Amino acid sequence: MIANLAVNRDSRRYPDPDSFSMERPRAKEHLAFGRGAHTCAGAPLARVEVRLSLELLLSRLDDIELNTGVHGPPGDRRFQYEPSYVLRGLEELHLNFVRK
Ligand code: HEM
Repeated sequence: MIANLAVNRDSRRYPDPDSFSMERPRAKEHLAFGRGAHTCAGAPLARVEVRLSLELLLSRLDDIELNTGVHGPPGDRRFQYEPSYVLRGLEELHLNFVRK
């Protein structure tokens, strides 16, 4: 089995692999949808769903911030992940929305 959740965090491939960066070099080489004959058949749909959802959400909000009461302050964040070695998914994500 390949640990899919680990490949996009491979420090041999990506510098500072645990940080989120919009400017991540070679970001399009990620393997979240697999690769090859069994590449995720729903990847185009998933990409459109995420783009439309985020566009709609952001058009209605002035700001989004992490709920530090639940997830802790910068430097001391707390997150729980689903107990899976296939995908890296948060059990919960608490955000504060500031409406327009
Ligand atoms: C963000 C959302 C999604 C992620 C991260 C994701 C990820 C994956 C991954 C990692 C695989 C395995 C690739 C492999 O075996 O190497 C896969 C397979 C597959 N996915 Fe997705 N998927 C997503 C959404 C969807 C959606 C929305 C659909 C259908 C509407 C879908 C349908 C499939 C199918 C049918 C396969 C099997 C492809 C095959 O074995 O030939 N996925 N997906």
